[in-house]
Amino acid sequence: MLLLKYGDEYVGFAHVKIDKDERPGWGFILEFYIAPSKRRWGLGRSFFNYIEDILKAKGVKNIWLIANSSAELFWRSLGFNLTNEIDEETSQNVMTKSANCPSLSEGDFLPM
Ligand SMILES: CC(C)(COP(=O)(O)OP(=O)(O)OC[C@H]1O[C@@H](n2cnc3c(N)ncnc32)[C@H](O)[C@@H]1OP(=O)(O)O)[C@@H](O)C(=O)NCCC(=O)NCCS
Repeated sequence: MLLLKYGDEYVGFAHVKIDKDERPGWGFILEFYIAPSKRRWGLGRSFFNYIEDILKAKGVKNIWLIANSSAELFWRSLGFNLTNEIDEETSQNVMTKSANCPSLSEGDFLPM
């Protein structure tokens, strides 16, 4: 469990582990939360980038989570993709990201 501090305040938390069950060896984000008054400030993105670096340093190559439908655009903006899988318990979508394969945009390609 990680807490995010901004100034003197705790403004978010994340529950992350290296999965031993469904996707062994993958990073698994079980919970991720930013306080409502601090949303859309870029804190979630910075927090996730920090978590991703920790996971990579531990040798993790892929990350997965069960996305709250209201957070899907957030996860997409961080490079996660929808899978065909739906979590049975929550009926929410499973999303994945390959830690070694950043999403590319047009500017990443050079004409030859
Ligand atoms: C989802 C959540 C963690 C996002 O945190 P945040 O700090 O507001 O996110 P950021 O400011 O870093 O946003 C990064 C980008 O994600 C996207 N994004 C974030 N929230 C979004 C929203 N509500 N709608 C659309 N896009 C969104 C945007 O592209 C944003 O970039 P921009 O602000 O420059 O457009 C936060 O809204 C939250 O805690 N929600 C409730 C708990 C939750 O759903 N957790 C996820 C569980 S799976």
